[in-house]
Amino acid sequence: MSAEYPDAALPDSASPGSAVLSVRDLTVTFPSDAGPVQAVRGVSYDLMPGEVLGIVGESGSGKSVSSMAVMGLLPKTARTTGSVRFRGRELLGLPEKEMTAVRGKRIAMIFQDPMTSLNPVYKIGWQLSEAVLAHHDVSKEVARKRSLELLEIVGIPSPDKRIDQYPHEFSGGMRQRVVIAIAMANDPDVIIADEPTTALDVTVQAQVLEALRAAQHETGAAMVLITHDLGVVAGQADRVLVMYAGKPVEIGPIDGIYYQPRMPYTVGLLGSLPRLDQRTQEKLTPIPGTPPSVVNLPPGCPFAPRCPLKSDVCLRTEPSLLPVLGAEHQAACHHSDLLAYEGAMDVFSTDPNAAPGQGPQGEQHLGEEPGQSPDRAPRQEPGQAPGQEPGQETGGTTGQEPGRPPGQHPGQDRRDPGQDPQSGAAQ
Ligand SMILES: Nc1ncnc2c1ncn2[C@@H]1O[C@H](COP(=O)(O)OP(=O)(O)OP(=O)(O)O)[C@@H](O)[C@H]1O
Ligand code: SF4
Ligand SMILES: [Mg+2]
Repeated sequence: MSAEYPDAALPDSASPGSAVLSVRDLTVTFPSDAGPVQAVRGVSYDLMPGEVLGIVGESGSGKSVSSMAVMGLLPKTARTTGSVRFRGRELLGLPEKEMTAVRGKRIAMIFQDPMTSLNPVYKIGWQLSEAVLAHHDVSKEVARKRSLELLEIVGIPSPDKRIDQYPHEFSGGMRQRVVIAIAMANDPDVIIADEPTTALDVTVQAQVLEALRAAQHETGAAMVLITHDLGVVAGQADRVLVMYAGKPVEIGPIDGIYYQPRMPYTVGLLGSLPRLDQRTQEKLTPIPGTPPSVVNLPPGCPFAPRCPLKSDVCLRTEPSLLPVLGAEHQAACHHSDLLAYEGAMDVFSTDPNAAPGQGPQGEQHLGEEPGQSPDRAPRQEPGQAPGQEPGQETGGTTGQEPGRPPGQHPGQDRRDPGQDPQSGAAQ
């Protein structure tokens, strides 16, 4: 890994604001025949002790690469810049021997495939006991007893029998729970879980998420939970960071992200979630189009080709992440103020009753420059659908959802963040 970063060998000291993990302006680029792959283009976040940060985005948005950079696990071809501080100590550029000591012990990583972490030739009990013995000066008997406890905490049935089995005798969900138990045994300060439930069916997902909650409760660790599904982080995270084309496009407390999203991509992700409101028969609304290639990105907002709210300025200038609802909630969108209107959740609606060509509150806001009055007449081509380029096929409509009670919050009828993302049951 080639890298450019400041003062790599800083002493261990308090991080800004006492964050356990501080990531600043992280960029990762891979060389390729087609040109540099800009996998991560400026990721910054602080993870506070005990906090759960959800990182959400579609495939290829840079979720894994940014986390692998934190762990120092990128291939040598990767060019990394920026800063990653664990308890104030710069990790980027740390010699491999020192980084190995940080990995597993201070920062544990849980991958989508549990067999990445488990050794197929050793019994589960042996692997757990090894982790316990690595961190505690106890006898083998005590380590085995603790291993049994850990298996119980993560919900493995009959742990006294299971402890003497091999990984292949466990189901995928149970293996993932064993990996979580091993992470607990290491007593880490930070757990990074990269799509830990993606390969599992919905019921098993809920069990693994429950095991993660137990691990976090037991260790008090802070956690980065990576997923492509906003529903998975709903009952789990304190804050959410939404990534698109290698960049954070919205970050904020979970309530703000779910109930007051200020970036159309976040709105689109929310629109793809199942709705709890049984009164409506409205179908899920996927975001039209696909994410861009991060090789030779054109100027402007990378989301513009898929965005019903795009205007000229979006095609010229990539928006910066700026505070939208207090300093804690930030979004990267020239038109984030338009999403404050009631009906903002419907920017991707395919509801045939939604009035095409009309924005929230029946007004047309498209094509305006930032700061332009929403009441000003739009610059729209005759016959052009909202957000549509001349000659481009429409991908969606805007309009206020008919039947939404006045005063109801955008997204209020969506998933409740306090509810189990799998079952919808209250926590
Ligand atoms: N070793 C590599 N060499 C070149 N490009 C890479 C490498 N690893 C990842 N990339 C590219 O970096 C970008 C970000 O990939 P990353 O794996 O972080 O996406 P992701 O958000 O984790 O997606 P997914 O949800 O599919 O896991 C993608 O365009 C990917 O093709
Ligand atoms: S309105 Fe413009 S800046 Fe905002 S997401 Fe759409 S294209 Fe990007
Ligand atoms: Mg990934």
